[in-house]
Amino acid sequence: MMTFTCFQCPIDFVAARDEACKLLLDKRNFIHTVAHSDAVHSNALRIWDGSCPDGKEEDLVALKLACYWHDTGRNDRDSVEQTPHEVESVRLFSEFARRSGYPQRIVDTVVRAILSHRNRGGRGDGLTDCLSDILWDADKLDIVNPHRVLEILWGFQAGYSAGEFSWRSSLDYWKGISVKFVERLHFDESRRLFLERYDGFSELIVQMEAFLASNHEFVARTSRVPNREGII
Ligand SMILES: [Fe+2]
Ligand SMILES: [Fe+2]
Repeated sequence: MMTFTCFQCPIDFVAARDEACKLLLDKRNFIHTVAHSDAVHSNALRIWDGSCPDGKEEDLVALKLACYWHDTGRNDRDSVEQTPHEVESVRLFSEFARRSGYPQRIVDTVVRAILSHRNRGGRGDGLTDCLSDILWDADKLDIVNPHRVLEILWGFQAGYSAGEFSWRSSLDYWKGISVKFVERLHFDESRRLFLERYDGFSELIVQMEAFLASNHEFVARTSRVPNREGII
């Protein structure tokens, strides 16, 4: 069992991830999956290693928890979000943390990072804000993860989104948001990670565009909209 024991209560990361996974699987949201939260976690550790040489163990603990839980409050893709998902994620995490007896200062740090992971501008001062910045970057970097892009575009095609599906417009949409987010990354390490990923990402886009250009029949067929029933 992977735990940190410097607190009154040891943090069991396996249990924390399992509980978050259950919630994510229940939502059946094809973008904000377990694969997404694991990718965010791995991006965050890389940014932490490259950017926080003096970081404290308890901040690393909070960062890991925030990665696992940040999207647990997402709905499925067909329903309108009643409560902002970051607020719902915080509610779910706080409940779990209370049951597990987590120290309040860890909970507060995780809550702060989750609440600010969605839309935010500049960075604040201090390590706590630094954690929020890491989570934001780690989350947005998944946009140029080629393994995830295909999975998500197939998800669109499979009928979770409302309206007419088009490979062309989905691809253009994806290229657009990847450019938009890179300008707002907070750390050099995040920008390095983006550039490493971007090669694979652009190669995938080029291949997909070539495929679409030479497969009109495929495009026409997959541009019909799907019936969501029975797909998941
Ligand atoms: Fe999110
Ligand atoms: Fe996310």
